[in-house]
Amino acid sequence: MSVHQSSNIKRITTHILQEMKNRGEKISMLTAYDFSMAGIVDAAGIDIILVGDSASNVMAGHETTLPITMDQMIYHATSVVRAVKRAFVVVDIPFGSYQGNSSEALRSAIRIMKESGAHAVKVEGGSEIKESITRILSAGVPVMGHLGLTPQSIYKFGTYTVRAKEEEEANKLIADAKILEEAGCFAIVLEKIPAKLAKQVAETVSIPVIGIGAGGDVDGQVLVVHDMLGITQEFKPRFLRQYADLRTTMTEAVQNYITDVKAKNFPNESESY
Ligand code: KIV
Repeated sequence: MSVHQSSNIKRITTHILQEMKNRGEKISMLTAYDFSMAGIVDAAGIDIILVGDSASNVMAGHETTLPITMDQMIYHATSVVRAVKRAFVVVDIPFGSYQGNSSEALRSAIRIMKESGAHAVKVEGGSEIKESITRILSAGVPVMGHLGLTPQSIYKFGTYTVRAKEEEEANKLIADAKILEEAGCFAIVLEKIPAKLAKQVAETVSIPVIGIGAGGDVDGQVLVVHDMLGITQEFKPRFLRQYADLRTTMTEAVQNYITDVKAKNFPNESESY
């Protein structure tokens, strides 16, 4: 099987993602929050782009994902969608815009789809948000679930450590995954849980399971693009593989520019009119 087996596909759809799982082709997913980065990630051949609420941390510098608003998520999503030709674009519904109120969940999902042109939404949680998921799906909006470490609930957990290590939480997670599948979610993200449990979930549900810190025995992988490119500085969890050191490259480029400006080496004659 070719590594880039699906690279000749014109547009990734939920149907194609399901086919990838069925034939054992791993699904690649990265975040993007702006036009330039989304263009690079899409042209490189990624299957899914997540406009994650991690934009709250990465783009806005907040400590958690809680402060980001619907308007801000729609701004990021709109910029990403403008750049994307092939990838399937999923947008996080931000904290406080779907929990505990299925009418608001539906309104939020419709706003995201209508105003950004994205292809699906993602929500965090299991049984607690089943009604919201059902309501969103009733409008024909594809929903991706998110279980395990769910950063919108960080103040309930208290830490960003590995979730579902104990049997009770692991059993609830498996039950929640089944609920999300039965409700009609097209895929589930599993964040920071034991690899053995993630494998069990991927074998239990028939929809694609995408992991972040969930081991290799799931149907695909997702990372925050700024983390894997080495742009973010202090976030180095065990699950993160850094594929570049862009922070160093960018810092050196900026320092070289400053040096050239101060030394009157930039611009030169060929760079002037
Ligand atoms: O917001 C985000 O970037 C996410 C990923 C970590 C899955 O939800």
